[in-house]
Amino acid sequence: MIYPITAYGDPVLKEPAQDIPQDFPDLNELVDDMFATMYHAHGVGLAAPQISKSIRLFVIDSEPMMDEEDKGKGVKKAFINPEIIEEDGEEWGFEEGCLSIPGVREVVYRPERIVIRYFDTDWNEHTDTYDGMTARVIQHEYDHVEGILFTDYLSGLKKRLIKNKLAKITKGEVDSDYRMKFPALSKRR
Ligand code: NI
Repeated sequence: MIYPITAYGDPVLKEPAQDIPQDFPDLNELVDDMFATMYHAHGVGLAAPQISKSIRLFVIDSEPMMDEEDKGKGVKKAFINPEIIEEDGEEWGFEEGCLSIPGVREVVYRPERIVIRYFDTDWNEHTDTYDGMTARVIQHEYDHVEGILFTDYLSGLKKRLIKNKLAKITKGEVDSDYRMKFPALSKRR
């Protein structure tokens, strides 16, 4: 099943998400659906709050972001109840986008390396280190389960420059080639 993607302005995107209990029903199916939804929208990551589920789960496939020399080194994985336990290395800037904020791309600075603890879909615990573009995708998705959006990092000036665009997205006045759920429209129903 392909879920509609929840648009900027919906309060679910600003809430810290809840831990998932081990008896959570149909978790594998949800993870499969999240991958399908992510690929359908040509994204490289999708977090559960972006389909209006306030739970600590995200999926990534960083392969499309790999440059020529790193082809094949992308990571496709689901992260359940993740905790970033270390972040280090030099901060580097990269122009990020978000499926919940179509048409907006801005440079965000993040540390180059992370250590993350998480569960896989069989509830095995892992502690892994990632760097470069895969770390970047994880950091962006991890922020989603913490209720943080990449636009939160922008300077006051940048925020003012995109204010109207964000307001339009909230109202559903935006083009995307995937189905979205807009807060202003769903309230009217
Ligand atoms: Ni995002």
